[in-house]
Amino acid sequence: MHPMLNIAVRAARAAGKILVKNFDQGSPVEAESKGLNDWVTDMDKAAEQAIINTIKKSYPDHGIIAEESGTQAGKENEFQWVIDPLDGTTNYMRGIPHFCISIALLHKGSVQQAVVYDPMREELFTATRGAGAQLNGRRLRISPKVELKGAILATGFPFKMKNRLPEYLEMFSKLFEHCADVRRAGAAALDLAYVAAARHDAFWEMGLKPWDMLAGELLVREAGGIVSDFQGGHNYIQSGNIAAGAPKALKQMLAQIR
Ligand code: IPD
Ligand code: CA
Ligand code: CA
Repeated sequence: MHPMLNIAVRAARAAGKILVKNFDQGSPVEAESKGLNDWVTDMDKAAEQAIINTIKKSYPDHGIIAEESGTQAGKENEFQWVIDPLDGTTNYMRGIPHFCISIALLHKGSVQQAVVYDPMREELFTATRGAGAQLNGRRLRISPKVELKGAILATGFPFKMKNRLPEYLEMFSKLFEHCADVRRAGAAALDLAYVAAARHDAFWEMGLKPWDMLAGELLVREAGGIVSDFQGGHNYIQSGNIAAGAPKALKQMLAQIR
């Protein structure tokens, strides 16, 4: 394993330990609001700190872009770690055991290493650019599906931006009409990891943030899939509008979305 991926895995496992230990204690989880339907708990913060501490021990001069504590420039800023310490906070708060930690390492703006870790199921999704994607060490391959017919898609609802609901519903109805079924599980990074693992044939969501997407993006690509914005372009990190899947199925999906 590449030494930087090794550190990402160590960091994700440290965060996972904290999240699992404090999961569903039977009392409501305290949360602060960051915006409409957008919450942060003490566990998001504690998990993030554990990740940053682990990374800083080995790479004190790298830059950090973390969801809860923001951006820290490093002396060696061509390396940047992009961190979502708890993807699926709403699930976590409600005792739904579907959430993950997402860590991506960028070098000069391109993702080199990726970890998405589901600590409840102990599923570790990893990828190194050019060296493939793995789940617990087993090589991942994108779904062989070539059409939307019969496909299982995953999505996220625009619950933090209800003003975009009409736009979303239009896409949903076109896609739902042509596929077999749609899942909304509540953790975008895991949705992407599941595309890499061929559990989903494709995924789409609007308004995501870089820390939701970057690790999952490399997993999908290294498993043989395609990631794009809704126009089929590369603007998904800027727009937050992402579609990912097997090349042919994704092409059909984009034709419906457009
Ligand atoms: C959210 C989850 C959710 C997606 C949201 C994300 P968070 O991340 O990934 O599935 O629909 O758009 O913001 O807030 O739980 O880290
Ligand atoms: Ca997230
Ligand atoms: Ca989060």
